[in-house]
Amino acid sequence: MPLPEGFLSELKMRNDITDVASSYVNLKRRGRNMVGLCPFHGEKTPSFNIYTENGSFYCFGCGVGGDVITFIMKSENLDYIDAVKFLAQRAGMEMPESGFDDSMSLLKKRIYEANREAARFFYSQLYAKVGEIGLNYFRQRGLQEKTIRHFGLGFADDNRFSLCNHLRSKGFKDSEIVTANLAFNSKSGKGIYDRFNNRVMFPIIDLRGNVIAFGGRIMTDEKPKYLNTSDTPVFEKSANLFSLNNAKNTGERTLILCEGYMDVIAVNQAGFQNAVATLGTALTQKQAVLMKRYADEVIICYDADEAGQKATARAIDLLRDAGLTIKVVSIPQGKDPDEFIKSKGSSGAEAFKNVLECSGNDVEYRLSKSKSKYNMKLPESRVAYVNECAGILAELSNPAEREIYASKISGELEISKESVLQLVEKELKRKTGNRRKKEFRTIQTKLSGRDDKVTPDRYKKPRVTSAEEALLAYLLNHPDKLNYITSRIDENKIQTGFYKKLYIYFCERIKNGKDPLNAVSGDFTAEEAARIFQIVNSYSSRIATEQSLQEYIDVINDEFLKLKTKDVANASMEDIQEQLKRIRDSHQ
Ligand code: CTP
Ligand code: MN
Repeated sequence: MPLPEGFLSELKMRNDITDVASSYVNLKRRGRNMVGLCPFHGEKTPSFNIYTENGSFYCFGCGVGGDVITFIMKSENLDYIDAVKFLAQRAGMEMPESGFDDSMSLLKKRIYEANREAARFFYSQLYAKVGEIGLNYFRQRGLQEKTIRHFGLGFADDNRFSLCNHLRSKGFKDSEIVTANLAFNSKSGKGIYDRFNNRVMFPIIDLRGNVIAFGGRIMTDEKPKYLNTSDTPVFEKSANLFSLNNAKNTGERTLILCEGYMDVIAVNQAGFQNAVATLGTALTQKQAVLMKRYADEVIICYDADEAGQKATARAIDLLRDAGLTIKVVSIPQGKDPDEFIKSKGSSGAEAFKNVLECSGNDVEYRLSKSKSKYNMKLPESRVAYVNECAGILAELSNPAEREIYASKISGELEISKESVLQLVEKELKRKTGNRRKKEFRTIQTKLSGRDDKVTPDRYKKPRVTSAEEALLAYLLNHPDKLNYITSRIDENKIQTGFYKKLYIYFCERIKNGKDPLNAVSGDFTAEEAARIFQIVNSYSSRIATEQSLQEYIDVINDEFLKLKTKDVANASMEDIQEQLKRIRDSHQ
């Protein structure tokens, strides 16, 4: 059962989308709308739009769109009902007693509770007799008591039922424990077993303070070294960062990006609370965009080994695309941050501070990486080096920046700055060419509609599809024309599957006196909602007259007739009779 319409309209009225969004995005007025840098993908020029007249948003860069509820679902990583609850709370409104399915919301709540209870249990085990080996492990790795407490570290013993039994005693059902990925079903189907055994435990906490997952490290050389919670209804590992809950509070707008849990913890203990790490996977675009919400600058502090350097190159690209300034730390002696700090004993904090201060920006890092590959005494290596430099500089959008580095390289190689810049120019042309080709291909795929999940059938009939979109937009912007439109366009004339569904849906709502767009974020998938608001907003800015409405109707009728005439050749007598009747009807 859907939420009451009156509740939804009040919710939207009391949560003005511009107000809500401006806590997440810097918005500027442009005409009647507001624009800003999209919070859902990395970009440098604003393509995120808010349409105040109908309370919706749409990003032309990534195609995300919807109403204020969709906005909160995306920004806060919530499902529909939880986003509604979030906004109700924001506006001081009571949720309706019933009329919505919040089983997902309740299940998530149980998983959060189970995780919190598990974290408490692991922590208490660490200080029990059974956890002595875990506590010693942490101590031997240099962790202080207050650090252990601050991160809520814990211990999972080698009994395969400890946590299950504990959680059952607290009233959790086996199914909840398994869904939280704290246990798994035995193969025989007879019972459940703890997922984590004989490991020291690192709880992962989200930005609202919920325990969402765990990482567990084995204390020996056995494998896997780390075992992490798999994705659950409350945990998506590619969308979260370890310790961002701590790091976001420093007010510095700089984050230190490490590779592992122990690095983050050691860096924290050395006095830098703004360290975060990915959760056993390479950095993702989602994480980069998330970091941009809390920072303008990221200091990459990965391991000095080859894997770490590869990961650095990847992170540089993602972070730069998200609009972050980047610095790269190189830790001496091939260590990771944790080993480095520990190796310096009581001056670890000071030494690490120095390392941070010596970090260069991403360009310097890449230039020096490239240089270290070549023997500068050999002319051919110098040529190869300068060519590689040109490639790196060609990625800089600021010409002054390109000049500065070109000067530096020219000095290094004793060649003229002009010849370096010439090479850069050549690279720039090549890159522009490649980019154009790529853009052309994306546009072609888009136009062909072959990657279009919402309307996979649109590429077959571009003319009628556009008319259908325009008609839907017209209907939404002029609900008073419902009768006129429906008397001319029967739903069966709408040829694009999804648009036919929309036509029926919107006509029905308008007929019943409901605001047609009120429940879109609950009644459709995210992609579908985005399409709906894209259509409404791209047509509302044009002034569609009654004459244009007539044109849309004509095109739809015309295409419908064509369709029918084409079919006549293979049709049965009855079909033909039926078609003729329809044709007569539509001409009346
Ligand atoms: N990782 C993982 N699973 C593994 C190995 C690593 O999920 N089997 C993740 C963990 O998040 C770990 C990070 O990758 O923190 C970095 O791994 P690694 O460099 O091997 O470990 P360290 O952080 O150095 O861990 P430690 O110091 O405890 O050895
Ligand atoms: Mn380590």
